[in-house]
Amino acid sequence: MASTTLSTAATPSQLSSCKSGIFSPSQALLSKPVRGLSLGKERRGKVNCQATSIPADRVPDMEKRKLMNLLLLGGLSLPTAGMLIPYTYFFVPPGTGGADGGTVAKDALGNDVLASAWVKTHGPNDRTLTQGLKGDPTYLVVESDKTLATYGINAVCTHLGCVVPWNAAENKFICPCHGSQYNNQGKVVRGPAPLSLALAHVDIDDDKVIFVPWVETDFRTGDDPWWA
Ligand code: FES
Repeated sequence: MASTTLSTAATPSQLSSCKSGIFSPSQALLSKPVRGLSLGKERRGKVNCQATSIPADRVPDMEKRKLMNLLLLGGLSLPTAGMLIPYTYFFVPPGTGGADGGTVAKDALGNDVLASAWVKTHGPNDRTLTQGLKGDPTYLVVESDKTLATYGINAVCTHLGCVVPWNAAENKFICPCHGSQYNNQGKVVRGPAPLSLALAHVDIDDDKVIFVPWVETDFRTGDDPWWA
């Protein structure tokens, strides 16, 4: 450890020339004898300047400090992001996603509907409820040739929102709440329901049945879709 002796008459430039390179005038003030407190060996007319010498290669330069700050920031960010991502997904409704805003149809057990298996277990003219867009109950329609129809029928009654069951014997959807009736494609044929049941496109992607919003003309009425 280096020890330097300075005269009290030393100038600031002389003070800062202490070997350590980290000596400052304020440190010099601390080295002056204070009443009842001796910080260094005092001699007549002289003050000891005791400065700790730190090798220059052990003082981190600015680039190293920046690097250490970045490493610290990265170390904190990763676990924070790991906690935030699942927290964010908690507020995102499940079942959304897919091309064109489509939704994979789910069966009564919550499993994805597979087209090939569906037509094996559902006969011609079958209409069975699945979970469709925004979780709405939606009928998958099997055509008379045992293929899936390219449209699904939203089962929510346009009167007051009851779920309308399929009546195979009548070949109609008949609402149990107030008696509205819809034909086998969901077109309203008897009130009080004011409008036909909403439609959704049915696409097949990798054998999965996908519902896609229907924004084109309603093929049953020739009108713009009231639900779009
Ligand atoms: S809710 Fe369907 S007829 Fe009223």
